[in-house]
Amino acid sequence: MTTVHWIVLDHVVALLGVASWFAAGVTAALGRYRLAYGLLIGAVLATSTRLVTVAALSGRGWWFVQEKVLLGLPMLAAAGLAALLIAGPRLRAAGRTPGSVGLPAGGIVSLLTAAYAALAGLVVTFLAGYPLTWSTALVAVSFVCAGALLTARVVTAPAVERTDAGSPDSTQAPDSTQAPAPRGRSGLSRRGLIGAAGGAVAAGAGITGAGLLFRAPESVVTGGGPPRVLGPRATVSVADLRGPRVPAPGGTSRRHTLTASTATVGLASGRAVDAWTYGGQLPGPAITATEGDLVEVTLRNTDIEDGVTLHWHGYDVPCGEDGAPGATQHAVAPGGEFVYRFHADQVGTYWYHTHQASHPGVRKGLYGTLVVSPREGRAEEPELDLTLPVHTFDNTVVIGDQDRRTVHPAPPGTPVRLRLVNTDSDPHWFALAGAAFRVAAVDGRDLNQPGEVREVGLRLPAGGRYDVVLSMPDTPVALVVDNDHGSGVLLRPTGRAGNDPALPDTSSWPELDLLHYGEPAAVPFDTDNADRHFTIVLDRALAMVDGRPAYAQAVDGRGHPSIPDQLVAEGDLVRFTVVNRSLETHPWHLHGHPVLVLARDGTRPSGSPVWMDTFDVRPGEVWEVVCQADNPGIWMNHCHNLPHQDQGMMLRLVYDGVSTPFEGTSHAHRRKDPAP
Ligand code: C2O
Ligand code: CU
Repeated sequence: MTTVHWIVLDHVVALLGVASWFAAGVTAALGRYRLAYGLLIGAVLATSTRLVTVAALSGRGWWFVQEKVLLGLPMLAAAGLAALLIAGPRLRAAGRTPGSVGLPAGGIVSLLTAAYAALAGLVVTFLAGYPLTWSTALVAVSFVCAGALLTARVVTAPAVERTDAGSPDSTQAPDSTQAPAPRGRSGLSRRGLIGAAGGAVAAGAGITGAGLLFRAPESVVTGGGPPRVLGPRATVSVADLRGPRVPAPGGTSRRHTLTASTATVGLASGRAVDAWTYGGQLPGPAITATEGDLVEVTLRNTDIEDGVTLHWHGYDVPCGEDGAPGATQHAVAPGGEFVYRFHADQVGTYWYHTHQASHPGVRKGLYGTLVVSPREGRAEEPELDLTLPVHTFDNTVVIGDQDRRTVHPAPPGTPVRLRLVNTDSDPHWFALAGAAFRVAAVDGRDLNQPGEVREVGLRLPAGGRYDVVLSMPDTPVALVVDNDHGSGVLLRPTGRAGNDPALPDTSSWPELDLLHYGEPAAVPFDTDNADRHFTIVLDRALAMVDGRPAYAQAVDGRGHPSIPDQLVAEGDLVRFTVVNRSLETHPWHLHGHPVLVLARDGTRPSGSPVWMDTFDVRPGEVWEVVCQADNPGIWMNHCHNLPHQDQGMMLRLVYDGVSTPFEGTSHAHRRKDPAP
């Protein structure tokens, strides 16, 4: 069973446990002793089963079970055992001899207390998750105590009178009009005293716990490396970490002006999209360059009220060009302008998009492609080179600007390169029918000796790119996206007439696993000796997001911007463990640095080294990746499911000695880039 299977099973068993403890308590209170006894047995079984599911999960990593092992299960075990001992024998006897005295109030209270404990554990898992904090533990325990006391008050007061009267209908629901318990000489019963004291303790714990929730979080974590050592004098501002103004020797300048505006754009089928665009078109203008060129893009904003930026996804530009509002620049407001400049020194397939209001901005169309060709080396032979950004508008998959299948003629034998780009927030499934192919590059970086494959599917993470290469056969080849035969791309051998063959069902094709593809090769550093190691645990949790409480997409139980910065120093080798406790896929994306995959769920890659800028951490998965801190700045590190990012799943990787004047300003500024 995979980790996510165990997670789901544990949730189901926990839920069954909660239901059966409650049902046992309620049926016992109603005098249905036989049923209550059965439910008690069921509750005990469910609780014991959780020992198995939690033990199995703990084998997958402490992150998956911490709050269960330290809080949920001990609380439940204690309350459950007490309920079993107090209520078990009486229920069993009462069930066997109808008309017997039944279950004393204490038994009912113990059963319901176990139910509160089971519920509290489940709620902690869903609302707080990892890591468990003292505040969470205190709030949970006080909730259970308060529940127990309240139940005791409701259940016992009438029960005392009933016992006195020896009434045969002592099992009826408690009646608040009945006489209170006899009082002691002081005017307060012993039970009352205990109740009041217990209530005070529970309330105190609850208030302390809730108070701790508001404790200011640490602002920075060091991942086991030294704390900040560079003082304010040594500090450089991201505003000064800007790109060059001239091309590299032999290169030229590629100048573009991208003006962001709302627009209604017609797609090939005639369908109109209410879009946010760069340059009035979908996608934005394709930017191409040759290695060594200077890319210079002037961004203007006509009427995107939320503001816009340009982020060069996967391109390791100088930090001041990264387009991260609130970190590397102010967002460009209507009427504003910002000029981006960087050298095209990474060859391959990339893309750009707004990072301001990226949800919903990117979804509405603020994206385009960036493709850089090598200056020399790649063959001059005729090549069919298609850049295919895939995006979803109103539930329709659009490739480039085409929402219907497009046909490209190609002479047999032509080298073909298909640059697949997933610009959505969810993965896409690509299949190439009719030809053997290779995946030459992932996220812009070439794989080592990728082998020829056929009839395998490619699952691209949100934001990811695969370059697929093939030699055109003398029969048609179809690129199928998400197994939808109405869209996609058809390559037709030139000169061939007649009908195109029917497309196969590609949904059942096995997925190409990049961890076992291509051939091993040396990597530029000793991956076992990282200078810093950060763990990122992804789950939903109740947390503050941009100053508002939310059921957040959380990192270590917190939401942006309350997640501590990860501190690194230039030259560090930085390792990340990314853990997905949730039931959703999180495409993890670090700006400014490619990461090398070390392991997924403990399995190391057996094929080519895999460098990625966005990797899908699927439910229950644990990824180990490493990067070299060689690009000083303040870099966003986030989930590229943009709604998740918007719901808090974003933090920053911060270099020691780098500061930003743009902090906390995610709103747009009407302000021009300083003149050159
Ligand atoms: Cu493609 Cu921070 O994003
Ligand atoms: Cu996510």
